[in-house]
Amino acid sequence: MISIHHHSQHKPLMGVWWIVMVAILAHTASAAVREYHWEVEYKFGFPDCKEGMVMAVNGQFPGPTIRALAGDTIVVHLTNKLATEGLVIHWHGIRQLGSPWADGAAGVTQCAIAPGETFTYKFTVDKPGTHFYHGHYGMQRSAGLYGSLIIDAAKGKREPLRYDGEFNLLLSDWWHESILSQELGLSAKPMRWIGEAQSILINGRGQFNCSLAAQFSNATAQFSNTSLPMCKFKKGDQCAPQRLHVEPNKTYRIRLASTTGLASLNFAVQGHKLVVVEADGNYIAPFTTSDVDIYSGESYSVLLTTDQDPSQNYWISIGVRGRKPKTPPALTVLHYVTATSSQPPSSPPPETPRWNDFDRSKSFSKKIFAAMGSPPPPRKFKKRLILLNTQNMIDGATKWALNNVSLVVPATPYLGSVKYRLRRGFDRSPPPATFPMDYDIMNPPRNRNTTTGNGIYVFPFNVTVDVILQNANGLDANASEIHPWHLHGHDFWVLGYGEGKFRPGVDEKTYNLKNPPLRNTVALYPYGWTALRFVTDNPGVWFFHCHIEPHLHMGMGVVFAEGLNRIGKIPDEALGCGLTKKFLMNRNNP
Ligand code: C2O
Ligand code: CU
Repeated sequence: MISIHHHSQHKPLMGVWWIVMVAILAHTASAAVREYHWEVEYKFGFPDCKEGMVMAVNGQFPGPTIRALAGDTIVVHLTNKLATEGLVIHWHGIRQLGSPWADGAAGVTQCAIAPGETFTYKFTVDKPGTHFYHGHYGMQRSAGLYGSLIIDAAKGKREPLRYDGEFNLLLSDWWHESILSQELGLSAKPMRWIGEAQSILINGRGQFNCSLAAQFSNATAQFSNTSLPMCKFKKGDQCAPQRLHVEPNKTYRIRLASTTGLASLNFAVQGHKLVVVEADGNYIAPFTTSDVDIYSGESYSVLLTTDQDPSQNYWISIGVRGRKPKTPPALTVLHYVTATSSQPPSSPPPETPRWNDFDRSKSFSKKIFAAMGSPPPPRKFKKRLILLNTQNMIDGATKWALNNVSLVVPATPYLGSVKYRLRRGFDRSPPPATFPMDYDIMNPPRNRNTTTGNGIYVFPFNVTVDVILQNANGLDANASEIHPWHLHGHDFWVLGYGEGKFRPGVDEKTYNLKNPPLRNTVALYPYGWTALRFVTDNPGVWFFHCHIEPHLHMGMGVVFAEGLNRIGKIPDEALGCGLTKKFLMNRNNP
């Protein structure tokens, strides 16, 4: 059976299209085209029981889940109904092979879609996995512009996993301050930090001024001076948690994806072990754990077997790690259908591991290996970047910089500048490939000042690139933060993690070249380094950045370009701004 989803009114022409499409699909019976019409606008909602403005897709928050089969083509006609803001959507985890213009990174692969305008994304999804999509202009992800994107095995193919049912949990954090106000504060002199989130949301639902576990006084006390009252929900409340209904002695796949703006999270289910089987859309060697650390931009699948007392219900808890936890954990309930539905779990929710136990965090990361049969990395690299992550100042504003350059994306999207050789689109001298080796990563920078830049790293087609992310102390003494780094357009191999300053010629010997996991997001731990490797086999321009929304806003990213003379046709609609706009006007009306 071929399924074609139409998520909006049929236009008269669509009927004809439908017939044509069915005729085409009848021939290529395995791959479908899934077409969506989306309108994005703000609406009032109650994500954590308190009213606020959320960005909604077709009135839904989180946006609708896209579910497709490997090999399908996704077409999204995206209309910007926001009154005064541009808009783009990035398909996080989708490599966009052959469609770099559809990656949805404003200023990098396309112009922001102007209010009232429609832009059409079209791309194929080539392998099964748990992904998501989100806004990628300003801080629109933090405003709630996100949803799930799940790819199942192609028809007639099977995933190497056995389970009886599945759940999908999209995790996010939520502030009561608007993103416009947050953006203003982050760029202010001095900077006004956004602070910790008010709530953690599961599928867009959290509880701000009450607790599901209020009967256990110790469960919330550490996050609020007064203990919170018990939550009471009316039918249809948008902030009521979705419980997970399970039968005893079955195995469930729980898909987790984190689109948080800031928070690093830890997922645990009371009394149940978890077997981790997928990371960022790649199978990993299964391992058993009591809880899962998940950073912004990452996704996992875990298998949970319902082998506990079937007359009880159990807490699912998602707490904050990596930063001093000022946000209470998100809670919901694993409900055994054999237990009384209204009966709360009999003991307090699992406690989140200590926020700054980074050894525990690293040991979790180091348990992740590629599944058998996953392609190993090339043995040697051809190009290498060593990127020093620092917090700096520019004229009284706080910034994040890589090798002392803080990124500001230009008005003309890079993809257009390189495709049409518009020399003035951005600074053609690349940023430094490394940093002075005498830099003291353990202390605040001796020179606090940095500069902004928009230069990029250009690689030839089909070469092996290593990137070493090097952490350092921030502006304040004794403070180095976690940064989850995300690469567009690729999966990369995570070759290893280390403490202190990376030692070229020495630390490469510790790399895992046998079964490193393929991922699109990886954590950089305080005062340490992380090494990754990828092959420049996807012509295009790809963002590589810290997935913490305010850090990216403050310049924490770089841009890679590869295979530039192999970039295919780009729809003009992607480039109707900056220098490309003029260029296309002259070209199309000579
Ligand atoms: Cu999910 Cu460039 O990000
Ligand atoms: Cu960061």
